[in-house]
Amino acid sequence: MPVQRTLVLLKPDAVQRGLIGEIISRFERKALRVIGMKLTKPSQDVAAKHYAEHKERPFFPSLLQFITSSPLVALVLEGDDAIAVVRGLIGPTDGRKAPPGTIRGDYALSKSNNLVHASDSPESAERELAIWFSEGLVSWKRCDTVWAETE
Ligand code: CMP
Repeated sequence: MPVQRTLVLLKPDAVQRGLIGEIISRFERKALRVIGMKLTKPSQDVAAKHYAEHKERPFFPSLLQFITSSPLVALVLEGDDAIAVVRGLIGPTDGRKAPPGTIRGDYALSKSNNLVHASDSPESAERELAIWFSEGLVSWKRCDTVWAETE
């Protein structure tokens, strides 16, 4: 499996509900590496760039309002097949329908306030990483990688 990087946002509801540590610990327990992390309150411009593909959707204005309303945590995770693995860990968009055991399934009861965003493809990951981490990332290996990332 290819080693991939994926952009994750712990959205304003995750920060306001005190779930930063809980959610990051799930990614860490999966043996993913955190190679970028910052607390930030994005501008309208950054938020609109990030969600550009939803520009024509009726919920776009409320999506921008929500994502810029309060600080969020932007993360970059790295690991084998990280894009699909992280999407699986967070679960489907609507927290009410997300299965138990997923992050949204365990903590979210909403489609808009669904705690986490994660890149959905290698192309999205590349585009989103450039928006949120233009300053670059920290390259390192966890000491347990040799134990965790084996076929
Ligand atoms: P996210 O994975 O960040 O990608 C786009 C976001 O739009 C999604 O999570 C939801 O938070 C939000 N979203 C998707 N569909 C709806 C909807 N029907 N109503 C409101 N927000 C939505």
